[in-house]
Amino acid sequence: MTGRISREFIDELLVRVDIVDLIDSRVPLKKTGTNYVARCPFHSEKTPSFAVNRNKQFFHCFGCGASGNAIGFLMDFGHLDFVEAVEDLAAFAGVSVQRETLGGEEKSSKKDLKNLYLLLDQVAEFYVEELRQNTAAINYLKSRQVKGEVARDFMLGYAPDKWHGLASKFDQALLIEVGMLVVKDDGKVYDRFRNRIMYPIRDKRSRIVGFGGRVLDDSLPKYLNSPETPLFHKGKEVYGLYELLAKNPKPQRILLVEGYMDVIALAQYGINYSVAALGTAASQFHLDLLFRFTSELVFCFDGDKAGREAAWKVMDSAFLSLKDGRSCRIMLLPHHHDPDSLVRAEGVEGFSERMQNAQALSDYFFEQLSDGLNLNEMESRAKLIAKAKPYIEKLQESTFKEMMLARLNDLSGMKVVSVMERNQVIQNLKVQRLGSQDLNRLSSARVALALLLQKPELAQLVERKEIDWDGLEFRGIDLFRNILKLILDKKVLNSAVLLEYYRGAPEEKVVKALAVLDLYVAEDKVDEVFYDALNGLLKQAREASILRLQSKAQDQGLDDKEQALLVAMLLGK
Ligand code: UTP
Ligand code: MN
Repeated sequence: MTGRISREFIDELLVRVDIVDLIDSRVPLKKTGTNYVARCPFHSEKTPSFAVNRNKQFFHCFGCGASGNAIGFLMDFGHLDFVEAVEDLAAFAGVSVQRETLGGEEKSSKKDLKNLYLLLDQVAEFYVEELRQNTAAINYLKSRQVKGEVARDFMLGYAPDKWHGLASKFDQALLIEVGMLVVKDDGKVYDRFRNRIMYPIRDKRSRIVGFGGRVLDDSLPKYLNSPETPLFHKGKEVYGLYELLAKNPKPQRILLVEGYMDVIALAQYGINYSVAALGTAASQFHLDLLFRFTSELVFCFDGDKAGREAAWKVMDSAFLSLKDGRSCRIMLLPHHHDPDSLVRAEGVEGFSERMQNAQALSDYFFEQLSDGLNLNEMESRAKLIAKAKPYIEKLQESTFKEMMLARLNDLSGMKVVSVMERNQVIQNLKVQRLGSQDLNRLSSARVALALLLQKPELAQLVERKEIDWDGLEFRGIDLFRNILKLILDKKVLNSAVLLEYYRGAPEEKVVKALAVLDLYVAEDKVDEVFYDALNGLLKQAREASILRLQSKAQDQGLDDKEQALLVAMLLGK
């Protein structure tokens, strides 16, 4: 399969593109001084506090704190994942993405993927054409009251009732790769989908990755779906997302339903913000994907036992995905209804009203857990805690989590504290103690680190000093040395490239904050300020070392190595 995008390629790309041009193409920028500014695309504001810095190749919003390089911008702005953002950035720069080769077969497999997408496109067109010519299929869709317009939006088609409908038209080997043919034991092949209404499944970038196919009558299986293929991964796609985004790029909420037909019927009634997980329980991946586009998810389930079980099951994923700014609600439908039948029976108003009244996930959660428990009894309260705690523990640290704990405390009359909370208290105590002690030493380290991040070429100055780092002690020394090494080894040219190395790393936050820290140093004074900060830092670091070694010498004595180090330091080496 495809290899990783090569590091060198990303580095080059971040040097090749100018973030000012990139952002200007999406959010028109105005030049003021050294910065380019605009109203921030990530929060609403009246006066511009979104600034793009050409030297650093970095953007930063003073209002909401969003910041990052060109890749980060595309990820946030276009709701893309990392790989997608790199691909888009490469396209913007007019180059193709270079991946690490896997035994030299990389080139061909990448070309194959392109061919596979192309093939599925042609197959979908073929099915659309077949639908046009098949009265039975058209009548079936009419009987389900599907309008032509919606059928077009969702590119509905029909797979003819033939064993070799596709095989006779397209490349057989490729058809097998995308799962459109079934291969028998004797090697003979036939069309997987026959005499079915076809629902193309598109990824959010409009590429067809697979199909679902429904019979025209009551025969079984009712639906067939594409198997897992190089293009199609059931756990990663939701049906209807592309169609939703095409109409509604920033929906207020997204409704998660169960069936293809539900998505289609709702769209037809103007509720064009629903998607369906493809016959599986929604995974955390699915929810995180949807939360990139909206802040509220409404889960729609049958009111029957299976539906309630499914609703409970989604808690597993929801608790992993929830954090401040994200919310979920549970909408249970009346018996024997799915969204398709309900919207037809009650109209948009009725349906919307039910949606407005859908229970918040937290209410649903506690209601279900307390069901059948008499919370006046100690035993029941203990049971409630035992059942609720594992879920609440899964939540990311957030106000929401604290509120859930508070609610559990109320209901159970106990002070339940999560393990994480306890650790946090201990951690805070430690930080406080460290903080006051290190306050002075922090500042020159901070200045030096910030400047180094903002002007990687300063690394030359450090290199010329030929510093012996062993034995030096200051907060952030590891980070400082890492950054220094990165710049020198990888010949890093700007902050954007440097930042990229810390994406997803524990230090990412600190690094970003220092990269945007404004030190108000005049351009021609930067070298000097940096040099002073570096010298100050080294002096303090040496003193700290000496102090520590001296006090250790008194308390427990030094070994030979420490002894030698202390002497060297005292001599100022
Ligand atoms: P439903 O039976 O609720 O589907 O199954 P539906 O879309 O409402 O179908 P209609 O209204 O009868 O046409 C929900 C989903 O489960 C998957 C499909 O993704 C379907 O949309 N499913 C269902 C299958 O994959 N295979 C099946 O045999 C049945
Ligand atoms: Mn249905």
